[in-house]
Formats: sequence, structure tokens, C-alpha cells
Amino acid sequence: MISHVLPTYNRAPVAFERGEGAWAIATDGTRYLDLGAGIAVNVLGHANPELVAALTEQAGRIWHVSNLYQIPQQERLADLLVEKTFADTAFFTNSGTEAAELAIKMVRRYWHDAGQPDRIEILTFEGAFHGRSTGAIAAAGSEKMTAGFGPLMPGFRTLPWGDIEALKAAITDRTAAVLLEPIQGEGGIRPLPDADLREIRALCDQTGALLVLDEVQCGMGRTGRLFAHEYAGITPDIMMVAKGIGGGFPLGAVLATEKAAKPMIAGTHGSTYGGNPLACAVGSRVMEIVADDAFLAEVNRKSALFRQKLEGLVAAHPQVFEGVRGQGLMLGLKCRVAPADLVKAGYARQILTVPAADNTLRLLPPLNISDEDIAEAVSRLDKAAADLNA
Ligand SMILES: Cc1ncc(COP(=O)(O)O)c(C=O)c1O
Repeated sequence: MISHVLPTYNRAPVAFERGEGAWAIATDGTRYLDLGAGIAVNVLGHANPELVAALTEQAGRIWHVSNLYQIPQQERLADLLVEKTFADTAFFTNSGTEAAELAIKMVRRYWHDAGQPDRIEILTFEGAFHGRSTGAIAAAGSEKMTAGFGPLMPGFRTLPWGDIEALKAAITDRTAAVLLEPIQGEGGIRPLPDADLREIRALCDQTGALLVLDEVQCGMGRTGRLFAHEYAGITPDIMMVAKGIGGGFPLGAVLATEKAAKPMIAGTHGSTYGGNPLACAVGSRVMEIVADDAFLAEVNRKSALFRQKLEGLVAAHPQVFEGVRGQGLMLGLKCRVAPADLVKAGYARQILTVPAADNTLRLLPPLNISDEDIAEAVSRLDKAAADLNA
């Protein structure tokens, strides 16, 4: 008989009832060191007092009003995002997938209003992940996600990841947009070199194609900059944000330049919940904390510490690990074993990690993880790797 919860996930046999910083406490009292952070979501850890205060203060006033009215909390968050990024405007969603949907619609509408309604081709890359809606799976194009769900939304062409020559051959003045994650998350913590991102920006400028970045996983301080593309010194036309921006509260956003967003006039898009007072009260507090230079400097310092220890771990277990990759606290351990086996071995050592494609184990701790917890994490990973070897 089918379970009451639709069984689309292979869940681990553990449930958590409480959290404190980088620790998640299971119903039987066992404390797990959480290096998954709800898949790169809990940027400030569990039960962060400042976020709890922001949420409860708002919860005692008003939760939801709909976008039929002014929402000061939403305006505040939009102001913060516009101030700190390339963007001129923001639309709030409840998830990364919804951000992908709007980004795609924005691209189409842009060319429609520019008098080129058949300019719809969006170039994407193998290994990408943009969500699970019909549009987002068509954009990613992987058989694993699309099988059985056709016919797929047309207008996407998938190129080999990071293959600039393939992009040069594919992009023309008929291309609508190029869509990519500066660091692929689900694809296995695969960063695109800064020089390649600059070249992609230049190719978009030459052809007029819009550059759409998906920073749902790599954004919001995860890489040690507020957004990953900042390392390359370029800006996109449209960007998808989610996960970390809500610190655990469902929230996403599409950020855009005025030029790209201009055709999205009243009536062209909407959401009942998107940008509601509760979500935006939390999102603004997250932004105030994470977008601070001193906070981001700490992320980079911790990243260096973590990386150094992980290099030692890789050297100690050459049969299990191949290397470390990623940026900031978006780190991946390329494995010689199945990452799912390591995740399982981690449960036995009370550490939570997340597998990814390309045989990679993802380490996505809260961005405010302590140095002691980083050391503890590496010690537990060391034991888990030894258990696998034994
Ligand atoms: C890069 C990227 N884009 C989009 C999404 C989809 O976001 P959500 O699961 O919030 O819909 C994800 C989720 O993992 C992601 O990593």
C-alpha cells in the first residue's frame, strides 16, 4: 500500500525534533552534526535566536495579506537586495523552482516585447539543476528527471558543462538566454572558472542573449561572497535566489535589471504567498546578517580552515576520497566510493552530509559554524571513512 506521504523520497530513518546552531537533535535525543543544513538552506544554523525573534515578532502581528496590498516587509527586503546586488528589482517566490519559472517567463516576455517572439532558445548545461516543475526539468534536461513527464516544454538546449567552445558554436543572435549555476550544486559542486563566466558574459553581450544565473544553492554568502558571480566581476541580467535567503523559512526571489524586467507589467506574474510578511521579515534579517562584509570574511576564514582539514582527510583515506572542491562553505569531497555509502556511514557517526552527482559528497554547513564544530565534523568524517574501509 502506498504511504500516506507520497513516496518520492528515499528518506533516512531518523526524525529531528530540535536544532541548535550546527546541531540537529533527533527524537531519541541523539545529536547529529548537520553539514547538510537542509540542503544549503539553514545559513545561520538551527533555531538562530535572531531569526526566531524576527519570525515570532512578525508572527504576533500579521502573517499573510496577499500581494493585493502593500507589504512593507517585502519592500524592505527588496531594498536590501537591490542595494547589495546588480538588481534593480525583485519578485519574491516560495522556492527556487518558482524562481526558475519566473526567470524563464521573464526571458520569453523580454524577447516577445522586443518584437522577436520566436527568440526562445535558452542554452543550459549538463549536470544543471533548477527545480522540479515541468519548466525546470526541461531546462535541466537530464533523463533522470524528465523520464515519463513529456512532452517537455520546448526551447532549451543542453551543452556540455563548462564547454566554452560548445557555447561559442551554439550561441547566436537568435539565442534568448544562457542559464547556468556558477557552481553546480546537485551536479556535484562543480565550479565554473571565473574566466569562463566572464567569457559567457561577453558572448551574451555580443549576441544580446540574456545571462540568467541560478544562485539558489551557491548564493546568499555560501561561497564567501554574497553571490558567487561576484568573484568573476560580472553581473547577470536575471538571477534566481532561494534556499539560504529564508534561513529555513520558504522564500525565493528573482532579481533582475530594469531592462530585463521591464516587460513584466501588472498582471504578467503573481503568487498568493510569494513575499508574505512572515517570509520577508525573516529574509530581511538574514540579509542584514549575511550581507555584512565582516560576516563574509568569517565565512572565508572558516572555509580555509575547513579545506585544510579536508585535504588532510583526503590524504588519510586515499581509497575513499579523491579530492576537495568548491568555494567558501560550499564544499564537495570527490569520492572513490559511492557518496550515498558515505552519507550512511556518517549517520552511524552522527554527522549529516548530502550526496550529489559526479560521485561527490556535499558539505554545506551553516555559514556561522564554529571552528570547534568544523574540527568535530572532520573527525567524524574521518571515522565514517575508516568504517567504510574496514
Ligand atoms: C541550483 C538550484 N536551483 C533550483 C533549485 C530548486 O529549488 P527548490 O527546491 O527550492 O524549488 C535547487 C534546489 O536544490 C538548486 O540547487
